[in-house]
Amino acid sequence: MASARKQEAPLIKAVIPAAGMGTRFLPATKAMPKEMLPVVDKPAIQYVVEEAAAAGLTEIVMVTGRSKRALEDHFDRASELEDSLEKKGNFEMLARVRESTTLAHMHYVRQAVPNAGLGDAVLTAAAFVGKEPFVVLLGDDLIDSRDPILASMIDVHHKLGGCVLALMEVPIEEISHYGAAAISPIDSTAGLENVVRIDALVEKPSPENAPSNYAVIGRYLLTHEIFDVLRKTKPGRGGEIQLTDALQELTQRSDNGGPVHGVIFHGRRYDTGDKLGYLQATVQFASEREDLGPAFRAWLRAFVQRM
Ligand code: G1P
Repeated sequence: MASARKQEAPLIKAVIPAAGMGTRFLPATKAMPKEMLPVVDKPAIQYVVEEAAAAGLTEIVMVTGRSKRALEDHFDRASELEDSLEKKGNFEMLARVRESTTLAHMHYVRQAVPNAGLGDAVLTAAAFVGKEPFVVLLGDDLIDSRDPILASMIDVHHKLGGCVLALMEVPIEEISHYGAAAISPIDSTAGLENVVRIDALVEKPSPENAPSNYAVIGRYLLTHEIFDVLRKTKPGRGGEIQLTDALQELTQRSDNGGPVHGVIFHGRRYDTGDKLGYLQATVQFASEREDLGPAFRAWLRAFVQRM
């Protein structure tokens, strides 16, 4: 097994779907991609690119669409701005502005129909990915950089092969927001902690029909077999091509893409996909910032007492 795995290409490619219309944040997202909404002073999407880069994923393709040019501009050099900061001697801000351009090699593809589904968005990146294993990161899920999960997912892929998804326990009444997994223990001799086998997946089930309260959070390590399955996957929930449905197909295989494993995440995750989660993430990030944190926490305490 070890020798077979040795020939595998290194895991350096990531796909970040960013074609969604951001309907939940209208009118803020009328003329601006939702991925550019700031969490404190950095666009949400930059945290995701930083996470990918920290895990060695240095070739990143973003799946974008109409009105998403700001994403490309953000990860590109801005020479006029940089010159002006340099002339003013504002080197600290200059470094912060340049940071987004040095994280990874960024590539862009466009999804023709923005609401065709996550499965369709991932399929748009097929030519970029080729036959290599790759990671999909969803921009709505922010994983705290102190609790990295991608490295363990990559480790599980190297040891067990196949696809590896990030799972997290959620209150059962919230499972209908997620892909839900039926799980079983893996052979304990594999020496892997928090790793389970995924026996089945259902996209956004009602609590009564959910196979468990283990939710798929937005990190997927996938192998290229997923593309053939996605090409045949029929629109599912919401009339969209669902990545969860294609992965469900792979859970039923013992070779050619299957089985599928899950790594159970116990760390800090922020859901910026809706307004409440976005506000919570902003407050948490601001509270923990070295520069802003002390003043912000003091104000927040007083504010909460007055409520
Ligand atoms: C997507 C997936 C879902 C997954 C979730 C994680 O849903 O379809 O299976 O659990 O991301 O955030 P979305 O949040 O885009 O509706």
